[in-house]
Amino acid sequence: MPKPIFVLNGPNLNRLGLREPAVYGAETLSDIEKRCSARAHTLGLEVVFRQTNHEGELVDWIHEASEVAAAIIVNAGAYTHTSLAIHDAFRAVEPPVIEVHLSNIHAREAVRHHSYIAPVALGVICGFGATGYELALEAIHKHLTDGS
Ligand code: DQA
Repeated sequence: MPKPIFVLNGPNLNRLGLREPAVYGAETLSDIEKRCSARAHTLGLEVVFRQTNHEGELVDWIHEASEVAAAIIVNAGAYTHTSLAIHDAFRAVEPPVIEVHLSNIHAREAVRHHSYIAPVALGVICGFGATGYELALEAIHKHLTDGS
């Protein structure tokens, strides 16, 4: 059986739809999960979609993904800009990692310009809202298919 793609979401993303819709859009995380499942289906991929507000849980899931996932798509929310623990966890895993953000973090406050994940990611997609998750699935499908 082919390995799934883990789509991991960090703090406050459970509040999407209610939280700063002008920045993050009106879609809920459940809407995004449905979009991911549908896109994954058309690509012949299986998705495991999760959200947590806890840094250690995200670290545990990265460890789990290293055993069972073909790739990891991650929106670590604010931990992106603060977490050496998440950086270290990604450093030590085999599956390729794509970092996703709904907003364009580079067009926002300076504190959001630095990512602890970007140096250990295959690539970064930001600023395209929920579509970024679908773009990440397409990118990872291509990478797993032809190495690009
Ligand atoms: C975010 C950007 C982060 O800076 C912020 O802390 C989030 C969401 C995004 O998807 O745009 O929680 O990761």
